Amino acid sequence: MIDRTTEFHDKVALVTGGGSGIGRGIAERYAAGGGDVVVLGRRQEPLEETARIVEKYGVRAGVVSCDVRDAAAVTEAVDGVVRDFGRLDALVNNAAGNFVVPAEDLSPNGWKAVIDIVLNGSFYATRAAAQHMLAAGSGSILNVIASYAWHGHPGTVHSAAAKGGVLAMTRTLASEWGGRGVRINCISPGPTETEGAGAALWPTEEDRRRVLGSVPAQRFTSPAEVAESAAFLLDDRRAGYVTGDVLSVDGGQWLGKAVYADSSGGR
Ligand code: HXC
Repeated sequence: MIDRTTEFHDKVALVTGGGSGIGRGIAERYAAGGGDVVVLGRRQEPLEETARIVEKYGVRAGVVSCDVRDAAAVTEAVDGVVRDFGRLDALVNNAAGNFVVPAEDLSPNGWKAVIDIVLNGSFYATRAAAQHMLAAGSGSILNVIASYAWHGHPGTVHSAAAKGGVLAMTRTLASEWGGRGVRINCISPGPTETEGAGAALWPTEEDRRRVLGSVPAQRFTSPAEVAESAAFLLDDRRAGYVTGDVLSVDGGQWLGKAVYADSSGGR
């Protein structure tokens, strides 16, 4: 039986986009499991708020203010974690940028902004972390994606292409690094109650209702609930044989809803 208060004891995680939403949820969950956590993001203040939450668990917290689009800064940040905390066991690529826009209205710069944050940023952090993890012979990387990475969705061409790229990157690196102790997986959260996702993906009440109607579980999820599945994938003892895969935590949303005659029996 795994003790969930010590499962990450003596381990260190770096969470990008750790100042809010799912990133903060995963940072807190890792700390609750006894691991030290460094959060990386653009804005200092939210990162410091996450650090305060993390420290309540009696573990060490770190904050790095940088943009994941800056490869040199990301490499320096990752190296800094290893220098200051002595090791790096887990990397969570959670930083994202997104807005819903018809593809024909998306400017090249808008496309580039999202690809740079999600796809390029994830590779920069993964590459830098892997230098240490491969040398140590162990490590776990978790990429936060979305199901439109494989089924697509109107208005998300930039994000879907980026997340699809991250999925392909995950599978490629799982096969490349599988024999060297480094696991890499994806988690695919469904609609999660966070400011970032809500503002980008269900800005109106009507949008919110439509999103809810697409989830068989008939509810939104929370960063804390998503973080439980993230903790599973990050933990070598429970998920040590899992690599190159995607865990959907979406209430069945990606399965879709083909609409025919009412089969609810009035429920
Ligand atoms: C059309 C837009 C736009 C919009 C920005 N752009 N917002 N185009 N509609 N709503 C265009 C701009 O006009 C500009 O192009 C280009 O994108 C870059 O915009 P900037 O504001 O200069 O970029 P920047 O400050 O770097 O911001 C990046 C960003 C921003 C991605 C645009 O939204 C951001 O940083 N977001 C981070 C937070 C976030 O989005 N979180 C949501 C993640 S939720 P031009 O041509 O004018 O120069 C998520 C969940 C998915 O990913 C899963 C669902 C299940």
